[in-house]
Amino acid sequence: MTAASEPVKKRVLFVDDEPNVLQALRRMLHTMRQEWEMAFASSGEEALRLLAEQPFDVIVSDMRMPGMDGVQLLTRVMEQYPGIVRIVLSGHSDRDMILRSVKPAHQYLAKPCDAERLKATVARACALRELLADQALQRLVSGVKTLPSLPTLYTEVIAAIQAPDSSLEEVGQIIEQDMAMSAKILQLVNSAFFGLRRHVASPTQAVCLLGLNTVQALVLSVQIFAHFDQAVLRRLALDTLWQHSLATSVCAKQIAADLASDRTTVDHAFMAGLLHDVGQLLLAANVPEAYGRALALAHEASLPLWEAEQAVFGATHAEVGAYLLGLWGLPDAIVEAVAYHHRPAACLHQAFSPLAAVHVADALVREAEAGGGEDTGLNPQYVAALGLAERLAEWRVQCQGVPSPA
Ligand SMILES: [Fe+2]
Ligand SMILES: [Fe+2]
Repeated sequence: MTAASEPVKKRVLFVDDEPNVLQALRRMLHTMRQEWEMAFASSGEEALRLLAEQPFDVIVSDMRMPGMDGVQLLTRVMEQYPGIVRIVLSGHSDRDMILRSVKPAHQYLAKPCDAERLKATVARACALRELLADQALQRLVSGVKTLPSLPTLYTEVIAAIQAPDSSLEEVGQIIEQDMAMSAKILQLVNSAFFGLRRHVASPTQAVCLLGLNTVQALVLSVQIFAHFDQAVLRRLALDTLWQHSLATSVCAKQIAADLASDRTTVDHAFMAGLLHDVGQLLLAANVPEAYGRALALAHEASLPLWEAEQAVFGATHAEVGAYLLGLWGLPDAIVEAVAYHHRPAACLHQAFSPLAAVHVADALVREAEAGGGEDTGLNPQYVAALGLAERLAEWRVQCQGVPSPA
């Protein structure tokens, strides 16, 4: 093999205050020297010094460290070196603390972690970034005049959730201050869609009944859809897409819950379902003429929309949406689900995940929308490889039973 064809080594920085842990990592990852260039730091301060001296692709950090802790370190890395993949390798008790923050980690790994898990996690995070760094996508995104910024209300809700002494009431009150948002959230949670048996009278009650994560996801998606004016989106039926997104989110959540996934996976499946087609909004609003061509091509050549987009733009709404969510620092599992929802087999991670839930839910919802018989884009090999084929019939019935939110 010539030097030119050799894959570029990933540069990985490990940070842990315990010498034993660093020593164990060195020993365990000895065999990775062919693929990774590794450095080891015993404090957040030392890690920042190394980062200033040389570029890294990935940082793997402990959480509890004297001086600068993991959250502080990764927050600094996120601000100064946004391109670096941030992975937390920490004790189980820290998990909730980390998951409460949308930022600053891309991935979480519990100690002890074997070499294969670590290797797979790094590979998965790097692959997602490489997909989103694709040149055609970069050209397309740079043509997007204004990428919406993370909605303010959503940022306020996240800050309240992260505050150590926050209560459900406080989060509810923040939403209540925004009249339009309160009305929309109440309309949604009282619709047949959520199947709640009692009437929900306030955002605080909604948070108590549905959970913080569900309401947080609703706040974000309601704001994103509100950002796009129907007048601008001549070529896209906003309402239809909103209903499709809601139905997909509810089905994805049911599928994840059905497989007895952990709470985080269920929440991520719901949020990814709500946001999976957000790239369509961005494209229709920012490159309307070209997007019209993609829609026409899909119609004339009977192609799935994403294939027509690929032909016109060299990238699809899936990657465009994932790019935006990645920029906002949403968890990797959500970004990944959005990025690969039409091509799940292209994802390195081949186990049940929010991606699988969204892929299946999107297809089943489209089948229900079309009244059956259409090519809904379901990838049966992928579904079978995950061992989910025999569950499809049951999920199909569930998805058909999801009522319209109107
Ligand atoms: Fe899609
Ligand atoms: Fe979809």
